[in-house]
Amino acid sequence: MFDKSIYTGRRDRLKKELKSGIALFLGNVDAAFNYPANQYHFRQDSNFSYFFGLDNPGFAGVIDVDNNKDYIFGNDVDIDDIIWMGVQPLVKDLATQVDVENSFPYNDLAGFIRKATGEGRSIHFLPPYRGETVIELSALLNIPNAEVKPAASVDLIKAIVRLREIKDDYEIAEIEKALLTAYYMHTTSMKMAVPGMVEQDIAGTIEGISLALTGPISFPVILSVDGQTLHNHSHHNVLKEGRMMVTDAGSETALHYASDITRTVPVGGKFNARQAEIYQIVLDANMNAIKAIKPGVPYKDIHFLAARTIVDGLKAAGLMKGDTEAAVQAGAHTLFLPHGLGHMMGLDVHDMEGLGEDFVGYDETVSRSGEFGTAYLRLAKKLKPGFVLTVEPGIYFIPDLIDKFRSEGKYFDFVNYDKLETYKDFGGIRIEDDILVTADSCRVLGKPIPKTIAEVEKTMAEPREWIKREGFV
Ligand code: GLY
Ligand code: MN
Ligand code: MN
Repeated sequence: MFDKSIYTGRRDRLKKELKSGIALFLGNVDAAFNYPANQYHFRQDSNFSYFFGLDNPGFAGVIDVDNNKDYIFGNDVDIDDIIWMGVQPLVKDLATQVDVENSFPYNDLAGFIRKATGEGRSIHFLPPYRGETVIELSALLNIPNAEVKPAASVDLIKAIVRLREIKDDYEIAEIEKALLTAYYMHTTSMKMAVPGMVEQDIAGTIEGISLALTGPISFPVILSVDGQTLHNHSHHNVLKEGRMMVTDAGSETALHYASDITRTVPVGGKFNARQAEIYQIVLDANMNAIKAIKPGVPYKDIHFLAARTIVDGLKAAGLMKGDTEAAVQAGAHTLFLPHGLGHMMGLDVHDMEGLGEDFVGYDETVSRSGEFGTAYLRLAKKLKPGFVLTVEPGIYFIPDLIDKFRSEGKYFDFVNYDKLETYKDFGGIRIEDDILVTADSCRVLGKPIPKTIAEVEKTMAEPREWIKREGFV
């Protein structure tokens, strides 16, 4: 964990933001996958982790704003636990590690909350995303399960977004650790993309690299030659020359900070002319977007800059036509880019998404579009120094979407459907980087991962060597 002063500082800042009441944070509990003792890898709740740092299942944290006191509720292990898990630190010692003076057995939490509600004090809590948390909040607050999520505190959500959206230097350092692992995951994936390999061979290898170097993957690996499916988690295809392989994967550090990188490479290591042409358009969109990122610019504008770059490129490739601005206004680009340009990243790979995307990516100056494709834009508001976000443009040839739009008579002024028919076997391309907004521009985080056509071809031609432990020791 970070130094204890970091957690105290975060809790103090939350008290200033929230002004009154009690903030209740339920940490996550162990979850079984096929019988009680066979459990998923434990992942702490990100908000609990942000304010209380501890990685123990079944803990709760309380920030009493009115009385300027912090509490940890959790149980010491018993002899049965010690037999199976070894000796564990006492809860009071764990609490001290994160500068919390008050620690109590978990069962005392119900009485604490009952007393506070009896005194008419506000209990602020966050929207739960696990069934166990819904049930626990329902019992603690004495409200039905169905009413728990709607009763979550908007004041607490907004206060936390204001804190977590600005990353400190020590958080950037963690993200860059996760990115160094992503470097090895992605360069390995590139070198394994040879004809005859099965996607699962590569997906399994890079998941292992993540585990070996930093921790679990930050989201299930997306790896496929069917890159037109945006989040493709099936890895059964055998790689063949002439296809492109999308790898969208990242790692999580021991402190739970994420990386999220996408690279797309030609199976066999050499781009053919058609692949190079489409790839270069996506790369231009990625790089134009990055060049334009600076504080004060709404991310929605960067999204549309990338969309215009894609339309310009597809016009040059003979797949689109007409006026670029008019095509984007009409939404014709969404046939090829049916998702948003990016999202915040930090303790969650889609940072704070559990608090509600509209609280994280939007504000009073910008509301979510209802239009197809653009509605998936997760971040639209003005950028500030300290934001960490992804830039992930793509071009996808989705046969069902092409057929749908064509049959609906959509965008005939902007799309050359006859030529597009010949691209239905192409797949998709996405190129994703993780970016820090700085005082006057931005910085691409992490050790550069091959991205230009020349860099990708050079890397794919290099022998696959076992990972150097650079930066990890
Ligand atoms: N890893 C999923 C995404 O790029 O948003
Ligand atoms: Mn991604
Ligand atoms: Mn992403």
